[in-house]
Amino acid sequence: MTPTILLTGKTGQLGSELNRLLPTLGKVIAPGRNELDLREPEKIREIMRNAKPQLVVNAAAYTAVDAAETDESTASAVNAEAPRLLAMEAKQIGALLVHFSTDYVFDGAKKTSYLETDAPNPLNAYGRSKFAGEQAIRDSGVAHLICRTSWVYATHGRNFLLTILRLGTQREELKIVADQVGAPTCAFDLAEATTRIVAGIIAAPKGELACQQLAGTYHMTAAGLTTWYEFAKAILEEAGRAPQTLSWLTSATNGHPLVARRVLPISTEEFRSPTRRPAYSVLSNERLKQAFGVTLPDWREQLRSCFSPERSVFNPPAAFSPR
Ligand SMILES: NC(=O)c1ccc[n+]([C@@H]2O[C@H](COP(=O)([O-])OP(=O)(O)OC[C@H]3O[C@@H](n4cnc5c(N)ncnc54)[C@H](OP(=O)(O)O)[C@@H]3O)[C@@H](O)[C@H]2O)c1
Repeated sequence: MTPTILLTGKTGQLGSELNRLLPTLGKVIAPGRNELDLREPEKIREIMRNAKPQLVVNAAAYTAVDAAETDESTASAVNAEAPRLLAMEAKQIGALLVHFSTDYVFDGAKKTSYLETDAPNPLNAYGRSKFAGEQAIRDSGVAHLICRTSWVYATHGRNFLLTILRLGTQREELKIVADQVGAPTCAFDLAEATTRIVAGIIAAPKGELACQQLAGTYHMTAAGLTTWYEFAKAILEEAGRAPQTLSWLTSATNGHPLVARRVLPISTEEFRSPTRRPAYSVLSNERLKQAFGVTLPDWREQLRSCFSPERSVFNPPAAFSPR
């Protein structure tokens, strides 16, 4: 079976990587925001009814965490209402919905890795909208995979990696929050893991994912944990060692040399963000490993790979055996 796959968010960090990988598995229909604005319910219905996909991969989201505080209605339309409609439409045609959510559904009060069974308690508007999206998908009864990830970055887009590289060309000293703990996850590795899982689902007997058994919520992040402060130091270290001819690096630094010499740890309080964020949001990936045999590399290894001129080429697995 060559499935039709509807992919949203193809211009995003994760969506652009998926748009590169998913065509190895099926016919990908990837409307841009101009063709499918997720704030427009009619458009969602129209695209779903015309495309009749077997698989829907929703990589689109309202991800501006600070802006969501003052624009919760848009965050909610894109992150909760749109997934609800996608789920209802997918259910009607028997499609599987693959959706992404966030570590920010948790309040960070825990001191050990969060499990899928831990109760969410989002601290901010973005987290609330994403949790509402998760709930809507579960309530719809559609066959689904909800993959919660964290601290996503890529060599394009808007993210911490590119911010640190830009600031690193402008300031000798950077002050970075050192009391939030999480797992920075590279969109490349996230997309590869997702594609491996989807490849397995497609290759499974009758293409059905053993869907009813394996459907559900999974944590999907880099292995290991760190703080924004340690992450920033690692970024500058890798950038200092990397070939300066890397095209994404040149564009991140605008061709300017890195001048940052010191990274100083500060507290969340000193950073004075208007948005509350969890102090600890490390997610256990054990369930993902048990169900699909998939693990993502350690965060430091993922970061190092970004600076390597050659990245691994995706090879879909020949067969998939649900565990
Ligand atoms: N970024 C993180 O740190 C992070 C952390 C945890 C979980 N996640 C989750 O991981 C997933 C992927 O995130 P990401 O970082 O790849 O996001 P991203 O880079 O911000 O990309 C978001 C995508 O959604 C699209 N989009 C936003 N509003 C839309 C609308 N109204 N209609 C249609 N498309 C719209 C954007 O299109 P335009 O290019 O046109 O704006 C873009 O393609 C999301 O579910 C996110 O919640 C992200």
